[in-house]
Amino acid sequence: MRIGVLNGGGDCPGLNAAIRAIVKTAIVKYGYEVIGFKDGFKGLVKNDFIRLEMKDVSGIIDRGGTILGTTNSDDPFNFKTFDGKGRGYTDMSHKIIENLKLFRIDALVCIGGDGTMKIAEKLVNMGIDLVGVPKTIDNDLDLTDITFGYMTAVNTATEAIDRLHTTADSHHRIMVLEVMGRDSGWISIESGIAGGADVIVIPEIPYDINKICQQVLDRKNTGKNFSIVVVAEGAVSIDGERVFKTIDEGSHKTEKYGGVAEKIASQIEEITGIETRVTVLGYLQRGGRPVTFDRILSTRVGVAAVDMLAAGKYGEMAALSGNVITSVKISDAVKNIKKVDPDGELVNIVRSMGISLGD
Ligand code: F6P
Repeated sequence: MRIGVLNGGGDCPGLNAAIRAIVKTAIVKYGYEVIGFKDGFKGLVKNDFIRLEMKDVSGIIDRGGTILGTTNSDDPFNFKTFDGKGRGYTDMSHKIIENLKLFRIDALVCIGGDGTMKIAEKLVNMGIDLVGVPKTIDNDLDLTDITFGYMTAVNTATEAIDRLHTTADSHHRIMVLEVMGRDSGWISIESGIAGGADVIVIPEIPYDINKICQQVLDRKNTGKNFSIVVVAEGAVSIDGERVFKTIDEGSHKTEKYGGVAEKIASQIEEITGIETRVTVLGYLQRGGRPVTFDRILSTRVGVAAVDMLAAGKYGEMAALSGNVITSVKISDAVKNIKKVDPDGELVNIVRSMGISLGD
């Protein structure tokens, strides 16, 4: 059997560890040949691949990024093409079927978040045999408890809060930290708890700027001259407003989250009169060495994915449930994104300890 492996979407710590686990299991346990496609589905459309041997995955378990490269803007069903007159978008999914046949690839392992899994689901419906491996720093992929990459991102954000604490304390300032996560507040709430933040804003609970300011002023009245506010990039105000930045990709403009911390900080400074500063953590959350938890989780789901292929569990994604690796249907995993439960334990402990959620 010859299998293909690719990773799609934004990179995250643990991708190399997952690729390593897939390649080693495929070769050692099953005697499969492994082909790695470059830059996600783009490599599959454009026939850009390398053969992956044991030596190629040696010494990469601790390396951030991905040896295969990745992209979060090359959807084979809406593929960027140049037709001579400019950029256009075309359905190139037929090329994937042709190329898999041409190179006699029997099945695929697709590593990715919800975007990659949605594409994988369409390929399954076209008759391609594949399994999914969940990853994302956002932890928003449904039907798996935790995705690899997430713990490293939370760790990085927590360390940032620790560092902000000392400078906030010294300068008697409010520090607003913007973290990633799109429409889910996992990174914000867990790093906020771990870092001892005073206000934690998550997209699942709309914030009222006056409530945030109240918390800051209440702390000041009890002698705490500084506060740490952690804000998820997808935070929603009580008026339903979110903040985006527009990215120009050739002729195509896409909207990405970014800028909400700046907005909240200027409002805090205006309302409270306390000096306020902003830090946007950005891509630091995606880079660097995976923490131990992510190395183990990515290895577990990587090994499981090859076992799933061998067992013919096509159309399924490896998943963490409790502390057990199981599998779920990709079509079920992409129905919803996984959000922080506003009535759940994490929110409850935040409220119990007097941390404000801005509501
Ligand atoms: O999904 C991962 C993520 O880092 C999000 O948290 C963030 O909103 C987005 O990707 C940024 O995407 P890009 O790499 O296209 O700027």
